[in-house]
This record gives sequence, C-alpha cells and structure tokens, in this order.
Amino acid sequence: MAFENNNNNTKVTKLTHISQNLSLSTLWKSIAISGALLFLLHTFAFNHPHKMITHKLFAPLEFTFSSSEISTSSSSQTSREPPTNISHLLFVIVGSTKTWRYRRGYIEPWWRPNITRGHVFLEKPPGRDLLPWPQQSPPFIVNKDSSVTNAKFKTQIRLFQSLHESFNNANKDTRWFVIADDDTLFFLDNLVKALEQYDHKKHYYIGMNSENVWSNAIFGFDMGYGGGGYALSYPTVETLLKRMEDCIARYLGVYSDLLSFRCLADLGIDLTMNKGIHQIDLHGDISGLLSAHPQSPLISLHHFDVINPIFPAMSRQESVNHLMKTAKTDQSRILQQTICYQRGNNWSVSVSWGYSVHVYQSVLPRNYLKRPLETFRPWKNVRIPVYTFNTRRVTNDPCEMPLQFFFDSVAEDKNQSLVTTMYKVKTLGSLPPCLPNVNQSAGNISQVSVIAATMHKVGEGIECCDVEKASSSDTLEVKIRACHKDEVLA
Ligand SMILES: *[C@@H]1O[C@H](CO)[C@@H](O)[C@H](O)[C@H]1NC(C)=O
Ligand SMILES: *[C@@H]1O[C@H](CO)[C@@H](O)[C@H](O)[C@H]1NC(C)=O
Ligand SMILES: *[C@@H]1O[C@H](CO)[C@@H](O)[C@H](O)[C@H]1NC(C)=O
Ligand SMILES: *[C@@H]1O[C@H](CO)[C@@H](O)[C@H](O)[C@H]1NC(C)=O
Ligand SMILES: *[C@@H]1O[C@H](CO)[C@@H](O)[C@H](O)[C@H]1NC(C)=O
Ligand SMILES: *[C@@H]1O[C@H](CO)[C@@H](O)[C@H](O)[C@H]1NC(C)=O
Repeated sequence: MAFENNNNNTKVTKLTHISQNLSLSTLWKSIAISGALLFLLHTFAFNHPHKMITHKLFAPLEFTFSSSEISTSSSSQTSREPPTNISHLLFVIVGSTKTWRYRRGYIEPWWRPNITRGHVFLEKPPGRDLLPWPQQSPPFIVNKDSSVTNAKFKTQIRLFQSLHESFNNANKDTRWFVIADDDTLFFLDNLVKALEQYDHKKHYYIGMNSENVWSNAIFGFDMGYGGGGYALSYPTVETLLKRMEDCIARYLGVYSDLLSFRCLADLGIDLTMNKGIHQIDLHGDISGLLSAHPQSPLISLHHFDVINPIFPAMSRQESVNHLMKTAKTDQSRILQQTICYQRGNNWSVSVSWGYSVHVYQSVLPRNYLKRPLETFRPWKNVRIPVYTFNTRRVTNDPCEMPLQFFFDSVAEDKNQSLVTTMYKVKTLGSLPPCLPNVNQSAGNISQVSVIAATMHKVGEGIECCDVEKASSSDTLEVKIRACHKDEVLA
C-alpha cells in the first residue's frame, strides 16, 4: 500500500508541475491518459501472478509453452511434459580412428545399446582393425571432409559438424545434446536425473569447470570443460548452430569447448554448473578426491589415460569396469560420502559408497574429512592456490591418515531393498596405532561391509551411519541410514 501511495503522489506532483506549462485541455488529456495507464498498471501488476509477468515481459528468449501451472482451467488440453528420460538425450562423442581401439573401453561400460541415443564421430572411415563395429559401441558417423589442413582448426570444426549432423538426426523427443570426449565415463541415471531438473525448452548450457585454478584462469572459470562433458538444451543448439560459422571465424584455433563457451557467451547463454561433472585435470592417484566427493550425484569422470588406475592392483580398464559394478545397483549413491564415528574406539569412518572406506584412529570433524586428501598432483606445476577446492596434505601421522579400504564386491538383497558393498584393505598392517594404547588400533581390520537401502533419494541432503564391529574382529560393519532430526554428525 505504501508503495502505491508514493507512486501516486509522485505522479500527481509531476502532473501539477507540468500543468503550469500546458493548456487546460491538454492537461485533462494527460490526466486521463495517466490515470488510465495507472489503472492498467495496477490491474496488471496486482491481479496477475508475478510469474506470468516475468514470463511475458522479461523473458524474450524463452519459448512460449503451456505448462499446467499457467493454464489450470483447461486441464483437458494441457498435460504436464513427461519427465526427462534417457531417450531424450542425444550424445555427440567426437572420437578418432586412432584412439577408438582403447578409448571404447571407457564408453562401452556406460553405453546402453539400443537405449542410449547418439553417435561417435570419426574423422575417416574405420579401417579393418576396427571392423566389424562392435554392438556394444555407439554407432559411428564419419565427419564430412572439412578440407581444413590445420589440425587445431579441425577439432573445433569437427565438433560443430558433429553437432550439426546430430541436430539433423534429432527427433521430436530430443531435449538435450550431450557433448563429450571419447574418454568420458558417464553415470547415465545420474545425468538424466540432473537434466530433469532443468527446463529443456529454455536456453541451457550445463557443465563444470576444471579442478585447476590455473586452467580456469586461462580458459574460463565459467566454461564447461569438454572432457567432463556438457549438455546443451535443444533451443541452445538451435541458436548456436546459426552462429557457428561466425564463431569459428571469430575465435580461430581455440579448443572446441572454449569455442562453444565463447560462442554461447556471445549469445547471452551462460554456464549452469553442476557439481558431479568432473574434467579430472589431475595426475597420479585421484583416490583422495574420489573418497571425498562433494554431496552431489556423480555424473562423469574423465582422463583415465593420464591418471593412475583408480583401484589398487588393477589396470585402468579393469578399474573402470569395477567401478561400474556398483553403478549398476544404485547409481545415485556412488561416491557419496557418509561419515560416522565409533565412539568406543575414537574412530572416524568415511565411506565413499561403491569406491572406498577410510578408517581414522581419531575423531576428526566432518568439515575436515570433507576435504579430499591430496593424493594427486595438479595438471601443471603452478603456484598455489592450485585447486578450486580445499585439500588435506598426506602425512605420516597415524592419527590423521586413514587405513584405506577399496571396493571389492556388491550384493543386492532385492527382497529387503538392501545393498551390501564390501571393501578390502589396501595394505594390511600399514597403519601404526595412533596412541600407544593398542586396543584402540584399527590396524587389524581387513574388510568393511557397508549396508544401505537401495532406494536413495537424490537431493534429500546427507545421510548418517552407524559403525559396528562385526562378530569376526577383522570386519567392520557400517550401516547407512537416514539421519535423525537435527542429528549432529561430528
Ligand atoms: C521417455 O519418455 C517418453 C515420453 O516423452 C516415452 O514415450 C518413452 O517411452 C520414455 N522412454 C523411456 C526409456 O522411459
Ligand atoms: C539393437 O537393435 C538391433 C536392431 O533392432 C538388433 O539387431 C541388435 O541385436 C540390438 N542390439 C542389442 C545389443 O540389443
Ligand atoms: C577417546 O577420546 C577421549 C577424549 O580425548 C578419551 O578420554 C578416551 O580415553 C579415548 N578413548 C580411547 C579408547 O582411546
Ligand atoms: C525373496 O523372496 C522370495 C519370495 O518371497 C523368496 O523365494 C526368495 O528366497 C527371497 N530371496 C532372498 C534372497 O531372501
Ligand atoms: C585391552 O583389551 C583387553 C582385552 O579386551 C583388556 O583386558 C585390556 O584391559 C585392554 N587394555 C586397555 C588399555 O584398554
Ligand atoms: C592384531 O593382530 C595381531 C596378530 O594377529 C595381534 O597380536 C594383535 O593383538 C592384534 N591387535 C589388535 C588391536 O587386535
């Protein structure tokens, strides 16, 4: 009310002021028009839901759509859009005949033949060594010869050719184009769930930046890195393709993901970051990072060729296949960190579901255990700050370093909707006691079993757990459960 009065007062004062310089008839006209305008404004502003105004006046880029929210009266004609599922995604994987032989090992574990839609794009027809093309691989398309000699330009042109071709192949169900490298490992169910949260009829560009401050400083903190993969909504691709030739000419010779980022920025489309997408611009042992994944479903991992195998005593390929075993039972839980304590022994237990368990021989608060142990090295040796997240240094202190267990096997009890994952110690007896009091030592535990319900509700915050030492003294049992109301974890 106060707002309305003030508004009227200002108008009246203005009108009075103006009236001194105007003839009477003009004045009356002005008052009549102003009054009518005020009336209209009032009716419009106060009798309509705010949402509608926003939609009509301030969102020219949005496609008009009929959601049940706006037209509640005619429920017969307008039904809600069905939720996004896997068939609404179209994958655009830019690969090459040179690398496909071993890179297909990072795509096939998640690709679901005849269910996942999309293609791997090759620069030339596959040779005999790659034929017959495996059933388990995405179908391939050979890019048209771009007759560009410079290799640097070729990759960005190939991305846009591939995107163009995919756009032409899209059907009425295609909502999202997912662009990835030929060594991007996706967690499909989580990807679909993540995209479901966004309106595919709007201009969306969804991805994540690099783990390295340095890369982000050079290329962009708000760029979606290609290896982690990025998703473009249908209208975004439609808009982008119209600009593509201009953009290639304007930003000659940059990486294809940088080109997408710059071209989209020219169109006013900015990145929406999604935490579970990982470029993995890191070297060495990334177990520290994977053991303290942020509270967000895992969507992608990348760069398996430049990091150590993620499980001990396994090859790169074996370790990828191994991780995918849990992804098949309850993907929403994978890598989700749950922390609990065994008060009797003063132990802290951190579970990264489906990947690892860390047992600490001291009580460490959650804010500390949330930080990844810096087991890895940066992409390049640069000055600190190196990473976009906090880390903990690896030390020799048995009170600060954990006994490490890695995922071994999974068993699902469908009757009770429970899933049990087993984790085996990396090196038995590798951790001396924290205190001289030997009874408190965790050194003799050789395996951990983690029991959880199979129905994990994504986005409902964190979960709690209880630690129990099982009958056999070498097995630690952890039960994941919903947290009690206002439960303090640490
Ligand atoms: C996905 O949703 C569409 C409706 O848009 C439906 O026709 C189709 O059967 C669904 N596919 C899957 C795999 O659930
Ligand atoms: C995919 O579909 C094709 C044609 O319908 C069929 O021949 C092929 O066996 C299917 N592949 C798989 C892995 O189910
Ligand atoms: C656990 O920590 C508390 C507090 O520091 C200490 O009093 C207690 O003796 C510890 N218990 C064991 C088993 O070490
Ligand atoms: C699950 O339930 C079915 C039917 O009630 C039963 O036959 C089966 O043995 C049960 N399986 C397990 C693992 O308990
Ligand atoms: C260690 O455990 C043994 C057997 O459970 C017990 O007799 C002993 O008192 C414990 N020692 C300490 C220091 O707690
Ligand atoms: C660990 O195992 C060794 C040898 O089996 C045994 O002597 C020691 O008491 C055990 N320690 C604990 C804390 O159980």
